[in-house]
Amino acid sequence: MRLELTPDELLSTTRAVRRRLDLARPVEREVLEECLRLAQQAPTASYAQNWHFVVVTDAGKRAALGELWRAVAGPYLERRAAAAAADPVVARLNDGVRYLAEHIHEVPVHVIPCVEGRTDRAPAGAQASRWASIVPAAWSFMLAARARGLGGVWTTFHLRHEREAAELLGVPFDRVMQAALIPVAYTIGTGFRPGPRRPLDTLVHWDGWD
Ligand SMILES: Cc1cc2nc3c(=O)[nH]c(=O)nc-3n(C[C@H](O)[C@H](O)[C@H](O)COP(=O)(O)O)c2cc1C
Repeated sequence: MRLELTPDELLSTTRAVRRRLDLARPVEREVLEECLRLAQQAPTASYAQNWHFVVVTDAGKRAALGELWRAVAGPYLERRAAAAAADPVVARLNDGVRYLAEHIHEVPVHVIPCVEGRTDRAPAGAQASRWASIVPAAWSFMLAARARGLGGVWTTFHLRHEREAAELLGVPFDRVMQAALIPVAYTIGTGFRPGPRRPLDTLVHWDGWD
């Protein structure tokens, strides 16, 4: 499936999709490979191409990853309960997180973008280079997926248990970092709107911070 989206529509409507993931529809391997091939066109520092994508379709492994995800999502939701009671926008976000926590093991594909070389205690500049060698590729993957009727959400909850996830998947933890867990499925309906964002002049600084 290819959606008729202009580049601007693609960039402005690739949303965090949690409740509108079609849990019953399988995702074809070829479609995922198309998205991953496009992701490979993203930049890496020094042309290292030190990226990896672990694509998890095995039900048992998705269930185990779901446990790790839920173990962090639960306390997160508890911490945010008061904020949700006071703010309908937070409440809506929390509802989405709660829904995904209940169903993450049913999402047909979990994609874990990884990058070679741990930067755990490295200076900020080294960390920035390493993370930016996988994040643009992973976001390209999400854009390519959206263009094909797929959706997902960038998530980091499971990283609190990165070592356990590495053991589960055979990722060599000592030399490879996981950047995210992106649950991927066809979306229920394909219409999405631009998300609410702060006014541009609150975050753009021309010629200096002031
Ligand atoms: C670095 C990062 C970490 C995130 N971690 C999680 C997460 O662990 N769980 C989750 O449900 N969403 C997570 N999100 C999704 C954000 O909540 C989402 O991108 C944000 O709400 C904006 O959504 P929108 O683009 O649809 O407006 C994360 C996003 C980013 C960029």
